[in-house]
Amino acid sequence: NIVCIIVGTRPGIIKMSPLIRECEHRGLEHFVLHTGQHYSPEMDNVFFRDLGLKLPKHHLKHIREYVTHGAKTGMMLMGIEKLLMEERPRVVLVCGDANTNLAGALAARKLHCIIGHVESGLRSNDWRMPEEHNRVIMDHISELLFAPTEETAQNLRKDNVRGKIIVTGNTIVDAVMQNIKIARSKSTILLDLGLKNNSYFLMTIHREENVDNPYILADLIECIKLVIRFFKKEIIFPLHPRTGKRLKEFGLTERLDSIKGLRIIEPLGYLDMLVLLEQCAVVLTDSGGLQEEACILEVPCVTLRENTERPETVLVGANVIAGTNPRTVKAAVEKMLSVARTWTNPLGDGRAAERIIDEVQKVLKDDVSGLPC
Ligand code: UD1
Ligand code: UDP
Repeated sequence: NIVCIIVGTRPGIIKMSPLIRECEHRGLEHFVLHTGQHYSPEMDNVFFRDLGLKLPKHHLKHIREYVTHGAKTGMMLMGIEKLLMEERPRVVLVCGDANTNLAGALAARKLHCIIGHVESGLRSNDWRMPEEHNRVIMDHISELLFAPTEETAQNLRKDNVRGKIIVTGNTIVDAVMQNIKIARSKSTILLDLGLKNNSYFLMTIHREENVDNPYILADLIECIKLVIRFFKKEIIFPLHPRTGKRLKEFGLTERLDSIKGLRIIEPLGYLDMLVLLEQCAVVLTDSGGLQEEACILEVPCVTLRENTERPETVLVGANVIAGTNPRTVKAAVEKMLSVARTWTNPLGDGRAAERIIDEVQKVLKDDVSGLPC
């Protein structure tokens, strides 16, 4: 197999799905390697089902036993290296900023594979974030830097990276376009939850800087209370496993459970998520992917963080950075409830996968290194 596509987390599976499809469509020899970083069925398996993907050829199953960033990344690095040595792909594609992708890029670098970093050049400039460390390292060791936007390409130029920068659009646009109609026709989530469009807010939180800090997590609970009380709308809250674990550890579960108007649900599959997002009044989130999808689906977004690596969404008026202070968040929701949903999506035209695989095929054709992986 010539191209290895590395996945391992929920957003990675979603954002790589258009590339897997494109390889299949062109008959380009490839295989998928799953690092096992995410493993609960609702964080992993459901996306293969919803996106109609074959199960990965390789799947590391032991990563869940490890807790720290170093141990997880190290174990993934070792597992990926072994598999790459067996498979000997020429190109390794990684997407985004999770530890999975850092491990994949490092393994590929050491074996002299050509690394393509999909969703390259994003910067929050927030050095508290593990994702920011991963992005910077990956961008410096990759040959092909697939920047979703001109702004992200500019970040890469500023960082003086050595790889080739190609502006492609974000594959999340491809994923939304490929799945939204299917979602509308198949998902029964609104009926299941008894929701009418525009009658509720959607909320997700899972960022380490937010949920691993008990004070910030407590502030976010206050945000939920205030927003429900002030706007008299329900909040639907699919709970990320990390957040669930932290709530328990910090003894905050009961405080959250007792809020009237808050509905805590299991993490959703992709089709249900797209429908629930498309029909909500405003989404409140610290997720990267949801900031993007909200912008694509013309849903106003309030970002529960101090910064974003997706400033394009803010610039077009689709997103506002609210932090985690309840009063600021309430004001942001108020503003976004009355915003005209007329912005132009700055994240791509749905053909990012096509451009990325064009470039991969070009590189494979021109590759005269003769280097095996
Ligand atoms: C990871 C990524 C983050 C991304 C997020 C997407 C890193 C550094 N972080 O964060 O950038 O936004 O995925 O959701 O790679 N857990 C489960 N089941 C699972 C997955 C996780 O129970 O399927 C629990 C485990 O207790 C685990 C914890 O959540 O230790 C954190 O998981 P981890 O993959 O380390 O980080 P995420 O918070 O998911
Ligand atoms: N998502 C989902 N179900 C959920 C929560 C999120 O399908 O319950 C999707 C969401 O639509 C987006 C992606 O998962 O495509 C975002 O993942 P997450 O928020 O975990 O990570 P991030 O994008 O912040 O890295």
